[in-house]
Amino acid sequence: MSRRYWIVGASTGIGLELCRLLLMRGDQVYASARRLGELEQLASQYPNLHCLPLDVQDSQACEAAAQRIAAEGGLDVLVANAGVCHYMDLPEFDLAKVQQTMQVNLVAPMQLTALCLPMLKDKGQLVYVSSAAAYLPLPRAQSYGASKAALSHYAEIMASELPRQQVQVSVVYPGFVDTPLTAQNDFPMPMRLSASRAAQIMLRGMDARRSTIRFPTSFILFLRAIALLPTPWRRALIRKTSRYKGKQPS
Ligand SMILES: NC(=O)c1ccc[n+]([C@@H]2O[C@H](COP(=O)([O-])OP(=O)(O)OC[C@H]3O[C@@H](n4cnc5c(N)ncnc54)[C@H](OP(=O)(O)O)[C@@H]3O)[C@@H](O)[C@H]2O)c1
Repeated sequence: MSRRYWIVGASTGIGLELCRLLLMRGDQVYASARRLGELEQLASQYPNLHCLPLDVQDSQACEAAAQRIAAEGGLDVLVANAGVCHYMDLPEFDLAKVQQTMQVNLVAPMQLTALCLPMLKDKGQLVYVSSAAAYLPLPRAQSYGASKAALSHYAEIMASELPRQQVQVSVVYPGFVDTPLTAQNDFPMPMRLSASRAAQIMLRGMDARRSTIRFPTSFILFLRAIALLPTPWRRALIRKTSRYKGKQPS
């Protein structure tokens, strides 16, 4: 039987590929992001696609979108996938970027959850797209890593508070995936997956109602092994990859 999904962050990358998979198998898909160009072109082909353009930083737009979904029959699955990533080289500090990152990656999923819970059907699912960066503090990812670690923390609290028989919480930890978000990266990205492969793995995990969905496994194990090192060793190892060498003599 077809289910009703709201994919927030659906315009490109993993979210777009996830939409394609769901549309092809006949699920009802509400798709949101600021620019839905590619999906709007698919709408004539897929009557099961409903485009709801919005900026997740606009809380009223989120409310209006949720009200529409509720009025049209409610929801089985929320996928909080929208994300932004800004790297900062110390001593740079860009408050606007930090605030945007926290708003999109953390505050918006919290608001979307609050909006969706009342309309979530029995055996509904909340899916939060965190990041492998949540497992290990990596240089230059101060706001991104902090936002994703906080999102995972929040999701685990939701998972322990909500009755599991009624609401399944899944947290997704992708490693590197080839998307517009990583196109800006100027460093090696080991074990990088295509967005379509990432979406396939993610959907398989969602269908199996898995609590955590992590990929690629070997990359995640590698990061988690480093995270388990004694703190001084872990810091020393990570410091080696940092570009910041302190104040240079002028
Ligand atoms: N790619 C990776 O290696 C990787 C690794 C770990 C985790 N992730 C996470 O995976 C998720 C998907 O990222 P991706 O890699 O597929 O990157 P992406 O192609 O850049 O997708 C990000 C999505 O978020 C949407 N978005 C960003 N800001 C938004 C806003 N203010 N309002 C509404 N939508 C907004 C974008 O749409 P618009 O710009 O059109 O609004 C886009 O649909 C993100 O949460 C990311 O942090 C990615």
